[in-house]
Amino acid sequence: MQKLGSKVIYQIYPKSFFDSNGDGIGDLRGIIQKIDYLKQLNVDMIWFNPFFVSPQKDNGYDIADYKRIDPRFGTMADFEELVAKLKEINVGVMLDMVLNHCSTEHEWFQKALAGDKKYQKFFYLRKGKDGQLPNNWQSKFGGPAWEKFGDSDYYYLHLYAPSQADLDWHNPEVRKELAGVVNFWRAKGVHGFRFDVINVTGKDELLADSTDPIEEKHLYTDTPVVQDYLKELNRNSFGQDEDSVTVGEMSSTTIANSIAYTKPEDHELSMVFTFHHLKTDYKDGEKWTKAPFDFMSLKQILLGWQEEIAQGGGWQALFWNNHDQPWALNRFGDTGKYRVKSAQMLGMAMQLMRGTPFIYMGEELGMIDPDYHSMDDYVDIEAKNAYKMLLDKGYQADEAFAIVHSKARDNSRVPMHWDDSKYAGFSTVTPWLLPTDQDRINVKKELSEGHIFSFYQDLIKLRKSEALIQDGMIKGLLKDDPQIFAYERTLNGQRLLVLCNFYAKSRQLDLPASWVGQTGRVLLANDACAWTEVPTRAEIAPYEAICFKAE
Ligand code: GLC
Ligand code: CA
Repeated sequence: MQKLGSKVIYQIYPKSFFDSNGDGIGDLRGIIQKIDYLKQLNVDMIWFNPFFVSPQKDNGYDIADYKRIDPRFGTMADFEELVAKLKEINVGVMLDMVLNHCSTEHEWFQKALAGDKKYQKFFYLRKGKDGQLPNNWQSKFGGPAWEKFGDSDYYYLHLYAPSQADLDWHNPEVRKELAGVVNFWRAKGVHGFRFDVINVTGKDELLADSTDPIEEKHLYTDTPVVQDYLKELNRNSFGQDEDSVTVGEMSSTTIANSIAYTKPEDHELSMVFTFHHLKTDYKDGEKWTKAPFDFMSLKQILLGWQEEIAQGGGWQALFWNNHDQPWALNRFGDTGKYRVKSAQMLGMAMQLMRGTPFIYMGEELGMIDPDYHSMDDYVDIEAKNAYKMLLDKGYQADEAFAIVHSKARDNSRVPMHWDDSKYAGFSTVTPWLLPTDQDRINVKKELSEGHIFSFYQDLIKLRKSEALIQDGMIKGLLKDDPQIFAYERTLNGQRLLVLCNFYAKSRQLDLPASWVGQTGRVLLANDACAWTEVPTRAEIAPYEAICFKAE
């Protein structure tokens, strides 16, 4: 069994990490060239977003061949070299398995189109009903979830883009092929797997119409059969590997299901990504809105899930950022005067909780959303559709743009800032997505005079040295405080206190009674705190973060 609590995982979006051959697109050789940088963080594993053969309609999440590297990213030899070089520094590889759907350019879909019955059963092909689509489900990227299947009477289901056809997991042949994909990469020395939107694989077999968008999700999300599929996949692939680390991306899931997916005795997955905390800046549950984050709800979700999942024996991935999210600093921190302090504070708040931390490339520099001024700067299909949808709803162009600007996935897909040059040291030519702000935020500057990267190094070191952080139980504290995020970790009589101020103003705080007078020491802080004993009352500075251990 893996000790999940001692691991830290770094996420690389290959298209945006480093371009080694001057075509404006990041690639595998680019990652190989930056191994020394990765080594300094001391992470255990790297999750790579997909670099398989793909028409890139959804940036590689539309896979046309699961077993080949897309030439724009490199060759299989490059990949093997990357795995070997990372192994030398004790870093494992986690690949992105997009198994809910494949590209319509995949051989399976093409054979199905050409009339091959076996492959037609790989997809959800249904006839329209009374001149209508087979059902009323909506694509998550906007518009109906059905598209015409060639020039037949049939439609195929796509919960995402029309170029991403959902695979019918009810068909055992499909599941067998997909386990084969996982085993193909295992044979290449891969131990980590991230399963894309894996909890929507068990669609309601009748594909019934939904009565409203909330109920609609229940028809294809977290259905009980997903647990069976995962047990089977575990048995037939990664479960045979003692070193495997797996994470399921769980769209709109629940606490109970998160526990069920990750309880070790059930042999499904090591952990889950859940997203409720990243919806606390949605207005009325709608992503394409612009609103400040709701601190009380953020706190209640993060700590509530932590406590219940810990009690239920499940395990979580801990993260603020990924390639689908705008930068956390823009949402929950400060991008100006307190950029550094708020980045450190967010890092501590997240990473000392119970679970396995994931750090998204550039987070360790305090990267922020790009300063774009036109829709032409965006590439993502989701952002483009959302902009049109907002205009259709009657928003003015500037309002619609402001919303897209604050929510687009391209925000975090901007190339990594290596230095302050025109293309941020990422490429010698115009990159596929333009960087901005590299004059003040970049690796070169951060490593010579910055304080975020080093704080992240300290956080990682702390996790690796403290059993309390790796294995301790967790309890939220100061739950009603409007400004302070606080929790304690406990293990075999040891205690750790974490206090984080989420605002740019200081706070006079009454410390939790159970901690007042407790002696100990500060293990890490981003301000002047040097307590040797927890005071009754203290002033917590703007974005201050304190980790105190009882001794
Ligand atoms: C996941 C990926 C996202 C992709 C979607 C469809 O949410 O993280 O980038 O667009 O699945 O594959
Ligand atoms: Ca390149």
